[in-house]
Amino acid sequence: MEKDFNPFLVSGYKGSEYFCDRVNETTLLKSHIKNNKNTTLFAIRRLGKTGLIHHVFESFNKSNTIACIYVDILGTKNLKEFTNQLATAIYNRFPENRGIGKKIVDAIKLLRPLISYDSLSGSPELSFELGEAKQYEKTIQQLFTFLDQQKIKTVFAIDEFQQILEYPEKNTEALLRTYIQQLKNVNFIFCGSNQKMMHEIFNSAKRPFFASCSNVNLNFIALHEYEVFITNTFKLKNRKISTDSVSFILDWTKQHTFYTQYFCNFLYALNIKQIALGDVQKAAIEILIQNESIYYQYRNLLTDSQWNLLQAVANENKLFKAHSKKFIDKYKLGTSSMVTRGLESLLQKEMIYYNAGVEQPYYEVYDKFLMRWLQHKQSTHFM
Ligand SMILES: Nc1ncnc2c1ncn2[C@@H]1O[C@H](COP(=O)(O)OP(=O)(O)O)[C@@H](O)[C@H]1O
Ligand SMILES: [Mg+2]
Repeated sequence: MEKDFNPFLVSGYKGSEYFCDRVNETTLLKSHIKNNKNTTLFAIRRLGKTGLIHHVFESFNKSNTIACIYVDILGTKNLKEFTNQLATAIYNRFPENRGIGKKIVDAIKLLRPLISYDSLSGSPELSFELGEAKQYEKTIQQLFTFLDQQKIKTVFAIDEFQQILEYPEKNTEALLRTYIQQLKNVNFIFCGSNQKMMHEIFNSAKRPFFASCSNVNLNFIALHEYEVFITNTFKLKNRKISTDSVSFILDWTKQHTFYTQYFCNFLYALNIKQIALGDVQKAAIEILIQNESIYYQYRNLLTDSQWNLLQAVANENKLFKAHSKKFIDKYKLGTSSMVTRGLESLLQKEMIYYNAGVEQPYYEVYDKFLMRWLQHKQSTHFM
């Protein structure tokens, strides 16, 4: 690992030193795994689901008691690609030429995959050229069975699991549920950002996965924990940041993990030894200016009324009463049904999200920098 890296990560995982809190969630997830429970992990995008999985996996990897496998299926379009991803993840998890690694690799090779190497990372990628969907189903079952037969327990995290709803093979849910039920030595973590789709899979009484998993809920990192983390992480690298600066950052990003990390990463890169509020406010504006071209592209993807509604949601910070006359009149949004349609399309485009997991549900702009940009544009001409 490079020695002098920016300690505020905006991708990947580099150990618990650079990971804030999530103590309870880590304990709960580990306990599910140890007690052979399959887990669902739902939360909006960029809050830290994938980070949490890596954090938990690292502690198992250290003790070498449980084999951890991670696969992200966001890019897969069908059962074939799903199968290839699973096989690749398993193959890359057991690179050794001895023991379990050798057994699994030999077993996978019996399925006659094509092995190619990623041109950038150089890591092996497996693919199968099988005739029919049924054969892929069988391959998935065989892969799971290999893992189940090993002495070591396996935990398999499938990230962006809601993607299976996009596959043309509509029985994917049912067949995965059937295979998974038969396993004794393999547990799963099903992780996903699209809350509507994840709820459809796991919370609908008519669907195969209904009531089959225990949940771990991921929320925003608590304010105090994040304040301490930011202050200490700067300190670790001999920087000092004022208390009001830290408060500003966490308010500006609404404690949304990725945006907070990005802001701190940006600030760290400025190489200021003693960070004061003025530096942080300047950095905030610079971040918006850097991202501005993306926001103009969003503008082109939306209709005028969708864009006005997005501006209105941004302006409210949290929008609690979307159909109130007060809100509709304030932003001249037309009728209540126009607002309903607009919110639906903004939700579908993931420009906003609906937080239903709190006492008073609300809508909020997904991307916190976009939210701040929209607010700034309405109040000033900062550019
Ligand atoms: N607890 C944490 N402490 C510090 N950084 C984190 C933490 N959790 C996630 N991150 C960082 O925040 C960003 C978004 O997290 P990620 O796990 O990718 O979110 P999700 O999977 O929910 O979309 C990543 O850059 C990750 O490194
Ligand atoms: Mg993720």
